[in-house]
Amino acid sequence: MTAVRLSVLPEEPIGRIAPELHGQFAEHLGELIYPGIWVGPDSSVPNVDGLRTDVIEALKGLRIPVLRWPGGCFADDYHWRDGIGPREDRPTRLNIHWGMAEEPNAFGTHEFLAFAKAIGAEPYLATNLGSGTPQEMRDWIEYCNHPSGTTLSDERRANGAEDPFDIRWWGIGNENWGCGGNLTPEFYAEEYARYRTFAFPFGGTVNAPVACGPNGWDWPWTRRFFDQIARGTRGNRLDKVEYFAAHYYCRTAGTATEYTDAQWLELLTKAIGIEGVITGHRAIMDGYDPDRRIGLILDEWGTWHPPQEGKPPRGLYQQNTIRDACVAALSLDIFHNHADKLVMANIAQLINVLQAMLLVDETRVVATPTYHVFALYAEHQGGTALRVVSDAPVISNGEDGQAQASLCYEDKRTVELRAVSGSASVRDGRLCLTLVNADPNAEADVELTVRGGAVSDATMITLATDDIHDHNTFEDPDRVAPGAAKSVAGNGSLRLTLPAASVSRITGRL
Ligand code: AHR
Repeated sequence: MTAVRLSVLPEEPIGRIAPELHGQFAEHLGELIYPGIWVGPDSSVPNVDGLRTDVIEALKGLRIPVLRWPGGCFADDYHWRDGIGPREDRPTRLNIHWGMAEEPNAFGTHEFLAFAKAIGAEPYLATNLGSGTPQEMRDWIEYCNHPSGTTLSDERRANGAEDPFDIRWWGIGNENWGCGGNLTPEFYAEEYARYRTFAFPFGGTVNAPVACGPNGWDWPWTRRFFDQIARGTRGNRLDKVEYFAAHYYCRTAGTATEYTDAQWLELLTKAIGIEGVITGHRAIMDGYDPDRRIGLILDEWGTWHPPQEGKPPRGLYQQNTIRDACVAALSLDIFHNHADKLVMANIAQLINVLQAMLLVDETRVVATPTYHVFALYAEHQGGTALRVVSDAPVISNGEDGQAQASLCYEDKRTVELRAVSGSASVRDGRLCLTLVNADPNAEADVELTVRGGAVSDATMITLATDDIHDHNTFEDPDRVAPGAAKSVAGNGSLRLTLPAASVSRITGRL
């Protein structure tokens, strides 16, 4: 048993927790789109205009604020015109990054936007900088957002969407240091500035273009990108950058479902390395943008395990255990604790790929442990993040923990995994506190106080299992599921018991 004293400090607000910190990402990769979302209107699988009803129903409960599409690496090889108009006329292409799978383009712009609407998410489109043109990007924006009267907007109307889609979020390329063209930061900065010039808010829509940032701890990308942008010939071009998006994956320790206690700790320690990615890139950006006008985004994050046996290697299908749930919870807590620095974060990916919310086959759907974390944490969306301090012992530490550490990363940082950590927020007088017990073996006994206040009517819901390898399958879908809400008694301070390897949410009146 680990004894921990933990305090929430209402007098130290951090910032508003943008709902977009709980964003999601869906790429044309493996079994995500087909059959994860799209089965077609003629399928015997229940669907609404080709979109799976069971998947929509399962995702509605998550309060997904934003959904990024169509990639990923796929985005820089995607030509949007392939995915509009009568489906029988759409071309079949090869998905060059993901196993040369045939891409039928049945799921295109209209289908994606119908899906995003059905699950209540704001769409975020990643455009093609790597193999596309500025014209292709600007035409996509006009097609989607201009009300009517131009050839492109009237084409959209003829394709069934009378009203403009009014899409706010547009990414300009993806991983352009790698699959998006193997560009240098200087070259990408020039390309970004060129594309950005034509990313007009057609039809008066608010337009939020996102620049492609680095992977992990690649500080030089960020510095060199902003140096180049600041080097305009007619004054610097920093005012042309609205958002800048980094990626961070924590590569497996063991496999998705087989790992030792040491590998459990190793992965969770890698996971919390995401904090340095946020603070490191933000600090560099602050040098160029001291008022923090430019928003930092984590466009992709999550665990990356070897693909499940029997599945195509380039399909990135992986199981998801209570260990992944703890990675998700630790990461979301870190995002809340940096609500003043981060404006969006999109976990990779929604269905059947990497750290998914749902695993589905042709007819069945199962929610993963990570799904349950997002459902529990949705309560934080829109709240004001409050500082949390604790005396929890450090149970593991590491450097950046990234497999890619052999790249150009100077300035590595040490990260310390504490037995218990979390985040707190308040909204309309209600406190929400989420806690992770990262110790795979020891229960934690937490004495919780709220400085200068008290919590009443508190209830706690916990996601815990008997075995640290537990996961959900079609045959056993609720092996890892939140327990019933329990009321927590207390007078001034609250006493909480957190099972080993667990995630808990405590809510109450402040
Ligand atoms: O999420 C899978 C891939 O990871 C994405 O396509 C790419 O952006 C990243 O390397």
